[in-house]
Amino acid sequence: MLAPMAGFTDAPFRLMAERFGALWTVGEMVMAGSLLRESVAGWRLLRLHPEERSRVVQLAGADPDEVARAAALVQERVGLRAIDLNMGCPMPKVVTRGAGAALMDDPARAARMVAGVRAATGLPVSVKLRLGFSRVNAVEVAWALEQAGAALLRVHGRTAQQRYGGRADWEAVREVARAVRIPVVGTGDVRSVEDYRTRRELGVGVAVARGALGRPWFFAEVRRERVGAAARRAAAQEHLRLHLAWYADRGEVWALRAFRGHLKAYLSVAPAEERSRALALERADEVAEVLGIWVPGT
Ligand SMILES: Cc1cc2nc3c(=O)[nH]c(=O)nc-3n(C[C@H](O)[C@H](O)[C@H](O)COP(=O)(O)O)c2cc1C
Repeated sequence: MLAPMAGFTDAPFRLMAERFGALWTVGEMVMAGSLLRESVAGWRLLRLHPEERSRVVQLAGADPDEVARAAALVQERVGLRAIDLNMGCPMPKVVTRGAGAALMDDPARAARMVAGVRAATGLPVSVKLRLGFSRVNAVEVAWALEQAGAALLRVHGRTAQQRYGGRADWEAVREVARAVRIPVVGTGDVRSVEDYRTRRELGVGVAVARGALGRPWFFAEVRRERVGAAARRAAAQEHLRLHLAWYADRGEVWALRAFRGHLKAYLSVAPAEERSRALALERADEVAEVLGIWVPGT
């Protein structure tokens, strides 16, 4: 599956991943409180493309009642297949409010949040975890969440303190999977088809985040489909087209700026001066042309 990434896994990118065979995608993290305050930016992040099959968004918050109320509103207005709860974000502005990974220090509250969202929406609830916040306790949290009715757990094999440093510990992910009966999906450091296969051999699902940036065809490759150079370049251009259409109301210049993170990833092997020149372009046809040249073939 495609793991959520704030600033990247918007509807156009999720749709590209699905078209290449991702079984499941999740939207970017949105704070429940911002939805209850009717934040326009928050609600914009929840928009789904009519062709998306996954229809899963991710909410974060510290207060189980607030998150359940926001989830019910989202279900009423957007229509979902499942809700994903963030108990893995390590960012100071999130954990200092008691949200994200900080919830792992309070398994009872984390469990109340899952039960509350399930009761308020009737939807399956999946949860993103890390190995722990102030201590390593993913197994204990997983038990509590399973008891509370979670349908699936996605575990990033690092503690919150590790942020993105060191290597993700997939043995620890497997330990969580062995402790519960619900499906467990691991995330962390899957960059190649080989990485994907060795993780699958552990008997857990695999979610890919950074490894799919500039490479939505990754999901086809893990199914042993070959995606040649021409198909990759066409896919990058199709992503740009979907992106421009999706953000048409913000104008081309805004939309191209919002595409820069993806563009940088698509141009990972382009010479540095080509990349900087491309990142400064303000016309969509010129960006499309660059993608047609510099997206790597293999
Ligand atoms: C830029 C960025 C944004 C992210 N945003 C989210 C998010 O909104 N919600 C979430 O659960 N995880 C988020 N993550 C974590 C990823 O889903 C994933 O667990 C982590 O990056 C490890 O996987 P990877 O090595 O495949 O990137 C984010 C990661 C990155 C790099």
